[in-house]
Amino acid sequence: MIPLASKIYYVIGINASPRKNSNTEILMNQMMKGVKSQGVITEIVNLKDLHLKPCLACEGCRTTRTCRAHIDDMQILITKLKAAQGFILGSPMHNYNVTAIMKIFLDRMYPLHYFNPENRKERHSLLPQNKKVLIYTVCEQQDNKYVKMALDAMRLPLETLGCEVVSELTATGFFKAGEVLNDQEILDKAYTEGINLAKSLKK
Ligand SMILES: Cc1cc2nc3c(=O)[nH]c(=O)nc-3n(C[C@H](O)[C@H](O)[C@H](O)COP(=O)(O)O)c2cc1C
Repeated sequence: MIPLASKIYYVIGINASPRKNSNTEILMNQMMKGVKSQGVITEIVNLKDLHLKPCLACEGCRTTRTCRAHIDDMQILITKLKAAQGFILGSPMHNYNVTAIMKIFLDRMYPLHYFNPENRKERHSLLPQNKKVLIYTVCEQQDNKYVKMALDAMRLPLETLGCEVVSELTATGFFKAGEVLNDQEILDKAYTEGINLAKSLKK
């Protein structure tokens, strides 16, 4: 008898650091190693390498359900987000918030919202449901109290789209590019977070 194929799982990681050898990218690689160790397919997207223009707020996607104002890399990214069962979103903290490219990415998810044209209060997500998400931020400051805005900026839009944020990680006290490589504890933590995310997909 031919065995039933086991389900294929896919996790996409969104790295929003604008610099090379970034701490966010290194931690993303660690997380994805953990995800991969559980037999899950992974892909990392570095937003700095994409063509992504800011949302024009033209509201055209309310009728077209896709962005026709910009023909850039967001259309393919939305296809990938729909296909993935899990996401990892990582952003360095810039001015107590996510980076500008992460904000552009989050705004450009607007076509994934349906609003009833007769009554805007009636709305639902057009993103397939049950997606599991891990979010994290990296910053120079040591105190965890400063990361709230950056984490909220990623968590709230994803929850509005029906995603479940299963874990949040903060890497504080890192300034120079690549500095996280000197901290085995944070690298191990990132790897474990990846394993946990992969396991959450299969529950
Ligand atoms: C424009 C800019 C703004 C920043 N704002 C903050 C901040 O508000 N708080 C903080 O702790 N670090 C801040 N940083 C430092 C970065 O968060 C830190 O260098 C981090 O390690 C960068 O991560 P990356 O290597 O992944 O880019 C800022 C850096 C830049 C370039």
